[in-house]
Amino acid sequence: MSHRKKITVRKILKMKGKEKIVMVTAYDYPTAKIVDDAGVDMILVGDSLAMVVLGMESTHGVGLEEMLHHTRAVARAKPYALIVGDMPFGSYEPSPRKAVESAIEFVRAGAEAVKLEGGSEYVDRVREIVKAGIPVVGHVGMTPQRYLSFGGYKLRGKTPSEEKKIIEDALALEGAGAFSIVIEFTREDIARRITEKLSIPTICIGAGRYCDGQVLVFHDLAGLYKESPPFAKKYADAYNYLLDAVKRYAEEVRTGRFPSDEYIIQ
Ligand code: KIV
Repeated sequence: MSHRKKITVRKILKMKGKEKIVMVTAYDYPTAKIVDDAGVDMILVGDSLAMVVLGMESTHGVGLEEMLHHTRAVARAKPYALIVGDMPFGSYEPSPRKAVESAIEFVRAGAEAVKLEGGSEYVDRVREIVKAGIPVVGHVGMTPQRYLSFGGYKLRGKTPSEEKKIIEDALALEGAGAFSIVIEFTREDIARRITEKLSIPTICIGAGRYCDGQVLVFHDLAGLYKESPPFAKKYADAYNYLLDAVKRYAEEVRTGRFPSDEYIIQ
């Protein structure tokens, strides 16, 4: 894919309504290489790494330093795709100043934009980060960092008040200067209405077909876990593929078939 041009925020904005935007998570150098070679448009260094990489029960356990560590690893792959650093729980809620300071750290680590969860209540954070020259992706709907208030990881937008809030949040984020919005686990018709109302692209996960793009967690699409969210399609069975490779290696070591002649370097 050497003919590819570096993807910029301006390119993502231009794709709205013309080309579907493909976003996927990556948390390390080799995965960033794979997804970039596959030609995705945006790489999200998601705080989902807390759960899919670090084995935590929620995203609450991952802090700014860990997110920066993984962002640096992804940035070392020098992807064509736009790198978005996901602001973890606690790195933007306390104040707009804290949010700007955290966003600056992401840029120093190699992120080209940051994402934060939440709507109207955080527009001042979004405005200040944008003012500092850092592009922001909003995130509405079922925002995992708020699972305690939502009572779990449930579809959002079931009641008229939830629906109203999600739409108002998306509009408020656009007004504050976000260049794109992730809509997670929300009724498809709501995501469609938001997509039609906004002039910035929407990127959906578990929110149906009518968005400007889609995002999936790498481990879900690769099938690294037996269980994944109901809206995530498995494009590979990496768990069994890798399980088989390691089993064959163990078997060959135990039976003396590895290392064979070709691997003995004298
Ligand atoms: O952290 C993450 O992976 C995310 C996506 C699910 C959008 O925020």
